[in-house]
Amino acid sequence: MDESQAAKIIAEARASRKYRELDLPESMLRQILVDQAAKGGSTAEINAAFRKKLHNIVAPYLEEIDYPAETKRMFTFFEANPSPEQEKQWAASVMAKHASTRERLAHLDAFCGVLRENIGSPGTILDLACALDPLILPWLKLPEAVNFFAYDIHKPRLDFLGQFFRLRYPNARVIHQDILAEPPQEEADCAFFFKEAHRFEKRLPGCNGPFFAAIRAPLLLVSLPAADLSGHHTLVTYHTQLIDKACAGRGWEVERLQVADELLFIIRKGQTQE
Ligand SMILES: C[S@@+](CC[C@H](N)C(=O)[O-])C[C@H]1O[C@@H](n2cnc3c(N)ncnc32)[C@H](O)[C@@H]1O
Repeated sequence: MDESQAAKIIAEARASRKYRELDLPESMLRQILVDQAAKGGSTAEINAAFRKKLHNIVAPYLEEIDYPAETKRMFTFFEANPSPEQEKQWAASVMAKHASTRERLAHLDAFCGVLRENIGSPGTILDLACALDPLILPWLKLPEAVNFFAYDIHKPRLDFLGQFFRLRYPNARVIHQDILAEPPQEEADCAFFFKEAHRFEKRLPGCNGPFFAAIRAPLLLVSLPAADLSGHHTLVTYHTQLIDKACAGRGWEVERLQVADELLFIIRKGQTQE
């Protein structure tokens, strides 16, 4: 496939009704297309495989949140000088609208308690593939001046979170970036990577080890579901093996905890960097 065909396929995907509002990073679309093209086939076959892969990566966590409307509501809410308890109620009501943060709401106190025990009081945190995770900040009780870098590929969601940061956490930033195609370069005390490593593995088998190594933080907190969506089948062994494999031979310490139905892997890399 030549460059003009690749550029056309990428431009069509970005402009499509399904994806145009998300403003997906060009580097992500290009990496997925290049991976599919490497498997061979006609341009039409490569395009079909590219669209299928893109759907699998992006579609499962699309939700019906109207972010501009949610942003207006947030401004009105904060104008009334809410108490910390009211702020938590508001944040929980937004997190309830996204599948992955909704699953955590019932055990959010416990989850954030375990996070704090393990991260202490970091100056800089990366939140990788964040979705609505940054709305747990009121539970983490970190200083408002914390440097919190939230990465995602979903632009409207990040615009909303950016406004939240402006109101509440002046040193926090949103970053619109495909963290697999372009691993973040910021140095941090710790990095969160919640409920996405299993999907990274599907996107690019074997990618988690090099990805974890590339993150410039000595401490990674990686979470994965302990059971499948129906709740009937345990994924504890399968997901533990995924993380063990990613960390094998790297000299890192890995501890596994579980908070309700979320497995939490505390990965201590020490000063080891790639
Ligand atoms: C399963 S949700 C996980 C969300 C969140 N960490 C949590 O625990 O609720 C997946 C999120 O990762 C984002 N995402 C997926 N692939 C990504 C990538 N390569 N780079 C940055 N963000 C990504 C999606 O847009 C979505 O918001």
